[in-house]
Amino acid sequence: MARFSDFDTRGYPMVDVTTGYGQWVDTYEQTVEDVMDIAVLDELTDPHWAGVRRAADLGCGTGRTGAWLRRNGVASIDGVDLTPEMLAVARTRGVHDRLIKADVRDTGLDSGAYDLVIASLVDEHLPDLRPFYAEAWRLAEPGGACVVLAFHPHFIMTSGMPTHFTGGSGEPIAIATHVHLLSEHVTAGLEAGWTLAGMREGVVDDRWLEVKPKWDRFRHHPVSVALVWRRRH
Ligand SMILES: C[S@@+](CC[C@H](N)C(=O)[O-])C[C@H]1O[C@@H](n2cnc3c(N)ncnc32)[C@H](O)[C@@H]1O
Repeated sequence: MARFSDFDTRGYPMVDVTTGYGQWVDTYEQTVEDVMDIAVLDELTDPHWAGVRRAADLGCGTGRTGAWLRRNGVASIDGVDLTPEMLAVARTRGVHDRLIKADVRDTGLDSGAYDLVIASLVDEHLPDLRPFYAEAWRLAEPGGACVVLAFHPHFIMTSGMPTHFTGGSGEPIAIATHVHLLSEHVTAGLEAGWTLAGMREGVVDDRWLEVKPKWDRFRHHPVSVALVWRRRH
């Protein structure tokens, strides 16, 4: 498996997930760009969002993904996250039916209870994708979908940039980042029993350059990717 440290061009100090998001929480919503994830989700016509009865929002953070699901007609959403400070913001947002502090690889949620499992901008924090895809499979009902929205491995490798935020004294701090080839996603998803139903990549385009003018050198490079999986049985 590729290691992020082989591509790191920034050398930012790196902290673990709960330390990092526990500090990033106050500025998270202002710094995450919707064009990374929301714009790609907007382009997915499968799954049929408005027909989703109950979704598991894994790595729900402050509830951005949950709010998007609600806007798109998802009836009921349970959220899971490891970082208490992120969950506290999600609680004030009020788009989830339940919010649980747990690991996306071992959520404690009911088996076969969800017709949608979604994880947006979480996979780069997992050293191994297999436990995640196995847990998503356990949660999904037959016919259910799993949508994984990922920080694109090509972009992590080309930019050498980890997931990071600006700390209290103005210094950049990285959050433990792992780089997964798309074949790792495909292999882990297939091994867990999922069928790949679709895939869409978000590239650095004019919308991106409006918010990140310095990224002109990355124009046309893929920066995020959505994988849509289906549980056939
Ligand atoms: C970049 S945020 C994404 C939040 C939200 N999905 C969004 O798109 O805004 C990543 C979130 O994943 C959570 N996370 C990372 N690894 C996790 C794990 N193993 N189990 C549960 N949550 C995790 C972090 O605490 C953080 O809230």
